[in-house]
Formats: sequence, C-alpha cells, structure tokens
Amino acid sequence: KKSEAWSALFSEPMSELVKRYTASVFFDKRLWLADITGSLAHAEMLAAQNIIAASDLADIQRGMAQIRAEIEAGSFEWKLDLEDVHLNIEARLTQLVGDAGKRLHTGRSRNDQVATDVRLWLRDEIDLISDLLKELQVALVDVAEQNVDVILPGFTHLQVAQPVSFAHHLLAYVEMFARDAERMADVRRRTNRLPLGSAALAGTTYPLDRERVAKTLGMEGVCQNSLDGVSDRDFAIEFTAAASLCMVHISRFSEELILWMSQNFGFVKIADRFTTGSSIMPQKKNPDVPELARGKTGRVVGHLMGLITLMKGQPLAYNKDNQEDKEPLFDTVDTLKDTLRIFCEMVGGQLNSATGKKEGGITVNAVAMEAAANKGYATATDLADYLVKKGLPFRDAHETVAHAVKAATSHNCDLSELPLTVLQGFNASIEKDVYECLSLRGSLNARNTLGGTAPAQVKAQIARHRARFA
Ligand code: ARG
Repeated sequence: KKSEAWSALFSEPMSELVKRYTASVFFDKRLWLADITGSLAHAEMLAAQNIIAASDLADIQRGMAQIRAEIEAGSFEWKLDLEDVHLNIEARLTQLVGDAGKRLHTGRSRNDQVATDVRLWLRDEIDLISDLLKELQVALVDVAEQNVDVILPGFTHLQVAQPVSFAHHLLAYVEMFARDAERMADVRRRTNRLPLGSAALAGTTYPLDRERVAKTLGMEGVCQNSLDGVSDRDFAIEFTAAASLCMVHISRFSEELILWMSQNFGFVKIADRFTTGSSIMPQKKNPDVPELARGKTGRVVGHLMGLITLMKGQPLAYNKDNQEDKEPLFDTVDTLKDTLRIFCEMVGGQLNSATGKKEGGITVNAVAMEAAANKGYATATDLADYLVKKGLPFRDAHETVAHAVKAATSHNCDLSELPLTVLQGFNASIEKDVYECLSLRGSLNARNTLGGTAPAQVKAQIARHRARFA
C-alpha cells in the first residue's frame, strides 16, 4: 500500500487512478545509476561524519551492489506502488540490509535527491552529445576536404547569388556545430553542481560535508542556496535550448540535403539505407532520414516550450510540477543523440574494417553543381567589381552590369559567353581579361579574404579545424 511510504497520518489509500497519475517510476527508472551513485556518495559522507556507523555504510554498499546487479540483469522488480525510482531502490535496500537501509535517507529528501540525480544523469549525457558533435564536425571536414575544388551556386532568397566552394558551404555547418558544442560545455558547468544537502528545502540539522559529496561525484561545486538547489531546473531548460539550436542546425542541413537530392538539383546522393521507396511509385527514393530530422526538430523545440512553461508559475521551493521535467528532458536527449549518430554515418559513412576506410557517406555530383553555378549569372557581381577596378563608381558599375545581364538573358547565354565586342559595348574599358573574372574559379579565387570562399581560405579553415580536433 502506498501509505506505507509515509506514515500513519493517512486514513485512506490512494485510488489506482491517483497512483498511476502521480507515479513516475515508469520513466524515471532510467535515473537508477545516478540514484545509486548519489546515494553511495551520501552514505560514505554520513559515515565519515559519524552520522551513521561504518557497519551501516558497509551494509548499504553491499545492498546497492546487489541492487545494481539486479537492475542490470533485468530481475529488479519495479513497483508502481512505490511511486518513483528513489523509493523503489530505497525500499529494496531496506529489504536487503535492514536498518542500515533505513538510515540512508538521514539528512536527505527526495527533493535534493532527484535534483542531484537529474544533474548527474544529464552531465554524462552532455558528454556523449559533445563526443557526437565532434564526430559530426570531423565527418563534415572530411567531406569538405575531398571537395575543395567543387563549386556550387550560393543562394540568397534561394535565387542564384554567387558561386561558392562546396567545402566552404559544408564548413558553415561545422561552425554551427562547433558553437553547439561550446554551448553544451557551458551548460555542463552549471549542470554539474550539487543540490544534495539542501534536504527538503531549508538545509539539514546534521553536520553534512557537502563539498566532500560534490568531490566524490566529480561535481564542480555545491548549490549555495538550499531553496534554489531543490527547485531550480534552469540547467535542464538551458540544455534543451542548446539542444533545440543544435536540432535547428541539423534541420537546416536536412532541408538542403532534401533540395540537393531532388531531381531538379541532383547535387548529392545519400546512401540507400537512409532512404525509403514508395509503395505506389516504383521510381522513388525518398530522403526520409533528413525529413524526419527536420520533423523531430519541432518536437525538441516543443520540449523547450514545455519545460520553460513548467517553471513559470512555481513558487519556491520544490513542487511536484517538477516531476514533469523528466519526459521532455529524456526525449530531448534521446532524439538529439539518435539524430547526431545517424548524421555522422549519413555524412561520413561507415568504417569498413577490412580497408580501415569509411564508406557509404554522402556522394557529391560535382558536374551537376558546377552546371547549376553556371546558370543564373552568378558572376555578375564580379563584373561589377571588375569595372570598379577600371575606375567606375560601384553604383554605375552595378547599373552597367544589369544591362549586360539583360542582354545575356535575351541571348539565352551566360555573361561569359557574350563576345568581347558586345561586352565592350557596355563599357569601353573592358578587356580580354574579363573572362577570367567571369569564370566560376576566377570568382572564387578573388574572394581571398578571411572567411571567404577562395580555395586558399577554405584550406586554411580546414587546417584550423584539424588542429582544433587534435
Ligand atoms: N518523483 C519526484 C520528482 O520527480 C521526486 C521528488 C518527490 N518529492 C516530493 N516531495 N514529492 O520530482
């Protein structure tokens, strides 16, 4: 019976509906390892402070070792009646070791316990996510390096703007994922702080050594205010915000992959295992994985809205509302990790253990990209810059080139296909060297300033990233 967990104060048991409504064990049981780790650190400190006996600590350690083995073996019996992961583990401990199990909760509340568990769990998940973010950046830099000389049209408003190197385009995403990794590292610092010792809300009457527990758990310090320690979840909100941004970056990349894979672009292919066919149209290979990633971004952003709204009306200190932090947080972590994993493989391919090389990543159609870059007058700005170097004010050069583009459009050709005499009709200073400036490669080479798309700049960026990864 539920009332066992509390006291004789309760005159009636909970109804089955209320039990089911208030229980969290079905989802918070995944905090079990953090819960045991936190409890062991707490117990060890209680013994060191002579709050419990050394024999109690030994019993608790023995019992927790068995519980751990049972959970890992799948034989641990999770009980809805015991509400959550904390009460389930504590009840089993007492069943196994008797009074020592009942002493574990000295100077502790589930309020500081759950806040500690979530922080410990999230800290380790952030580390996994950071590793994946690095792996994805490496995969993108690898593909960039193999495609330094490939040119595609750069767009603004999805209209052809200026030619850019495909490597440069991919490295833009590397910048985004590098910032995502920085944000994760930053969130980690604030997550990795110890609420334990705050007890229910006001601190505790026992002489706890909180710094010692923080050290045992590898945390960077203790929460300095007990009311804040038990009730704050801003670390979870911050994490979900960082995760949302990361998903938004993945979503933008997905959108481009989907466009690039369409027959009208034909710029790239992803391996068949990331696509699906159609049950009616035999010719189809649909980019389901990037589409789902784009879709799942909405779900993660939704979790951010859920969590931030969860906090807004809560008075200090702990409220049961906070039990609702877990499912959105867990789902955010799961979705982000799976999405990053799948993108690492979709972009970079799989390791072939026989050759030691990665295979089956993104396939680039350099010819299609370059052909597209040759449509849409992508080098018109270069012609304007050419005229500026001949002495024209930029605004006049801009207008002159607009006339040239109009002429080329009516001849249904590129600017570079207009004969020299025709070009000279727009401005007499134009000479034969104009064709170098109207070429795609000439256009790229000319943008040789820091952060620009010239091959020399792109190679320097690749080297910078490599050094960063090392
Ligand atoms: N399952 C609860 C949660 O997730 C644990 C803390 C319960 N504390 C309480 N005072 N009811 O937040």
